[in-house]
Amino acid sequence: MNARVDLIGLAIVSADDCIADARGEMPDGLRNGADWSHFQNELDRADLTLLGRIGHELHPNAKHRRRIVVSTSASGLEVRPDGWWWNPADCSWDEVTARLMPRGGRVAVPGGRRVFDLCLGLGYREFHLSRATRCLLPGGVKLFTACATDAAQVVLAGAGLRAGSMDWLDEAAGVSCCLWQEQTASPLT
Ligand SMILES: NC(=O)c1ccc[n+]([C@@H]2O[C@H](COP(=O)([O-])OP(=O)(O)OC[C@H]3O[C@@H](n4cnc5c(N)ncnc54)[C@H](OP(=O)(O)O)[C@@H]3O)[C@@H](O)[C@H]2O)c1
Repeated sequence: MNARVDLIGLAIVSADDCIADARGEMPDGLRNGADWSHFQNELDRADLTLLGRIGHELHPNAKHRRRIVVSTSASGLEVRPDGWWWNPADCSWDEVTARLMPRGGRVAVPGGRRVFDLCLGLGYREFHLSRATRCLLPGGVKLFTACATDAAQVVLAGAGLRAGSMDWLDEAAGVSCCLWQEQTASPLT
């Protein structure tokens, strides 16, 4: 049996649960310095980052963190000069973690939507849901595909996560964060 690997979702959404606008781009309304610091701290705490190919191309790995890029162009799990590349159709998550994290650990998941969907099926230990409460993105890219019909909170609760308190990351800018945790998880220190 594999050692325990915890998936930690990290996203900032608009008031209407979007991670990007109708063009698939991240607007200024979703960019906030306090949220960026929170995000970077969580990436630093993680043993691995798991992200989609577009996010990887938009954010080259300047800090040389250990990264897995999800892409249909990968053959199973393969190593490339810029990190590990994984095609979930060819190779299971258990195989990936057995190879890359035999002692277990923490995997930060910064998206995008299809990667958030993928990990919803695998099971999040935590989801750090930041929200730009004054930003609305009609026709935008929802956090999860299921958000086409259900609010993000409903989807997270349906995946077995429980909401903690809502804290302001930047009250003046209206940017909050809520930590959702696996219901069986013991409180984190
Ligand atoms: N607000 C936020 O927190 C947040 C978070 C993430 C992204 N974003 C924004 O959202 C926009 C782009 O995000 P995105 O969701 O379109 O892109 P993305 O998830 O970064 O990349 C999508 C690509 O990842 C690969 N992929 C994802 N899931 C896969 C799967 N299950 N199997 C195989 N390949 C898979 C595919 O690559 P191939 O085409 O190579 O097969 C797919 O085209 C950007 O503007 C980004 O800044 C915002």
